[in-house]
Amino acid sequence: MADVVASEVAQFIQKIENRSARIGIIGMGYVGLPLALLFSEERFAVTGFDIDGKKVSALNAGGSYIVRIPGTEIQAAQKHGFLATADYSEIGNVDVVIICVPTPLNENHEPDLSYIRDTAKAIAPHLREGQLVILESTTYPGTTEEVLIPLLEVGNSSGLHVNREDATSGFYVAFSPEREDPGNDTVARRDIPKVVGGVGPLALELASAVYASIFNRTVPVSTPAAAEMTKLLENIYRCVNIALVNELKQLCHRMGIDIFEVIDAAKTKPFGFQAFYPGPGLGGHCIPIDPFYLSWKAKQYDFRTKFIELAGEVNVAMPYYVVDKTVEALNEESKALKGSKILVLGLAYKKDVDDLRESPSLTIIELLKDRGAIVSYNDPFFPYVGRGRHYDLDMHGVSLDNLAQYDCVLIVTDHSDYDYARIVHESKLIIDSRNATKGIESEKIVRC
Ligand SMILES: NC(=O)c1ccc[n+]([C@@H]2O[C@H](COP(=O)([O-])OP(=O)(O)OC[C@H]3O[C@@H](n4cnc5c(N)ncnc54)[C@H](O)[C@@H]3O)[C@@H](O)[C@H]2O)c1
Repeated sequence: MADVVASEVAQFIQKIENRSARIGIIGMGYVGLPLALLFSEERFAVTGFDIDGKKVSALNAGGSYIVRIPGTEIQAAQKHGFLATADYSEIGNVDVVIICVPTPLNENHEPDLSYIRDTAKAIAPHLREGQLVILESTTYPGTTEEVLIPLLEVGNSSGLHVNREDATSGFYVAFSPEREDPGNDTVARRDIPKVVGGVGPLALELASAVYASIFNRTVPVSTPAAAEMTKLLENIYRCVNIALVNELKQLCHRMGIDIFEVIDAAKTKPFGFQAFYPGPGLGGHCIPIDPFYLSWKAKQYDFRTKFIELAGEVNVAMPYYVVDKTVEALNEESKALKGSKILVLGLAYKKDVDDLRESPSLTIIELLKDRGAIVSYNDPFFPYVGRGRHYDLDMHGVSLDNLAQYDCVLIVTDHSDYDYARIVHESKLIIDSRNATKGIESEKIVRC
């Protein structure tokens, strides 16, 4: 039996090495599409699965819907066999299935694993022996074993089971977290080490071989749960440290100290300190969401994750703090927020990205509108903003031509393309929640 398995594993690895393995990636979003392109660059034929027909059509027409990915990259991938589909029967034709679907929170702030469940149910009937299924979506420890595998096993009409050790049949399963940092070009994607946890040593070996073909370093851990927890530790670490500097920023404002000057000085320490920066609140699909996956799971173990809850409290309050600071600054000008014309600069959750998810800008705009301000916005990435899960704005962006018409310009996202010196020069009052105007001296600037 061991020989059969050894030869199956050897064949699989050979297919990876000679690039004849076909890779299937489920979810052609911010994570799945760049991953597909990385495999294509390494001459693998990739099939991208998505339930969004518009994305499938765009990709098959050689186009892209993510700003930082030009259509030419999709076309180059097509030359290596890249194609997109919504047809799950194609799963039978791939050797590796990598799942990159969303893992949001539901309305009760609890993990919403419906996308993972739906994907598992859709894959299961088409699974075949020897295939490797890898989950990349961020989630709580235990998801691969407790949610993904049972659905794959139950939904599979051939009676296949996960191959944990050295059974002669079955499919292989692993978890490997995504570590992308959108907009950060300082580290090449392939230089980001890839953590991998397999269900059994064979799955670990196969998944490591798959990722070693596109990443310079893989980091094996003992179980999928350890890999799931690794991702959460990384994001909770950010969330807690951002909350710490957000709290200290508020204290520094009261004490008349510039928090950014303090952080810049502290980060000259060559050990034991990593710089995190305060802002108007957390955004993106990871840092505001992932920690709550763990606090939810922790309750099953009768455990309260107090750091996560406290950090959440501080970070969630930041958009309110920015709005309060705006009220104060207008008050200094003898103006009420109600009826004031306010231009919000930046909708994206962080600079230079075309991603709105959980952006504090959306909350700030809603708070300002609720309190009677007349709000406009500008964002080069979003000419229009409509409805989302937590907002309903229906607004068109405005130009930066006539800044003097606004009672206040509020910088929420510090996009690099903005000419901050001109913005300060032409505006009546600037509220800067990002330190974007660093180095510009003007009494019109209120940093918050
Ligand atoms: N965006 C990031 O920077 C980032 C970084 C690290 C980890 N992650 C994690 O990666 C996962 C994916 O995030 P994302 O940002 O790529 O999300 P996304 O929303 O950009 O993309 C997900 C894609 O999956 C598709 N999809 C949903 N259900 C599907 C199904 N049943 N079958 C096929 N396709 C389906 C959607 O149509 C969408 O195109 C999440 O768990 C997220 O937490 C994201």
